[in-house]
Amino acid sequence: MERTFIAIKPDGVQRALISEIISRFERKGFKLVAIKIVIPSKGFAEKHYHDLKERPFFNGLCDFLSSGPVLAMVWEGEGVIKYGRKLIGATDPQKSEPGTIRGDLAVVVGRNIIHGSDGPETAKDEINLWFKPEELVSYTSNTEKWVYGDN
Ligand code: GTP
Ligand code: MG
Repeated sequence: MERTFIAIKPDGVQRALISEIISRFERKGFKLVAIKIVIPSKGFAEKHYHDLKERPFFNGLCDFLSSGPVLAMVWEGEGVIKYGRKLIGATDPQKSEPGTIRGDLAVVVGRNIIHGSDGPETAKDEINLWFKPEELVSYTSNTEKWVYGDN
């Protein structure tokens, strides 16, 4: 089953939005298969955002990601990579639709509270960067037959 990497950034953790955000993924029907709270080093943040290293905001972004606790998670479900990004909303909260996490809970692009992998390759790379294989838990949830039906 498809998996994606989702992280609540230091602003989301400090603003006590962990349960609100987890609840949106959980209620959708996605399954939590890994979770931990960590303060990433600056070097680790640079690895996570390596694709953006030429952008003018890269240094500030990496300083911010490493400025406090981050809640790192892996969520599993059919279409979770793409639909997870829909739940999150557009990068700039001013452009995120109401009803999305950033639309409802954030105001500026530099403090947009959550990260989600943007495709299958980045999902795989980010899960491997943030988690050891043994930190991922495979299990059957009793709700699965109600979320997916019998097929
Ligand atoms: P992530 O899920 O965090 O990767 O966001 P994204 O995929 O929606 O956007 P992208 O990967 O392009 O940018 C990563 C992060 O950099 C964003 O979430 C923002 O926090 C930050 N960022 C992106 N564009 C800007 C910008 O123009 N200015 C500033 N200050 N930050 C930006
Ligand atoms: Mg991104």
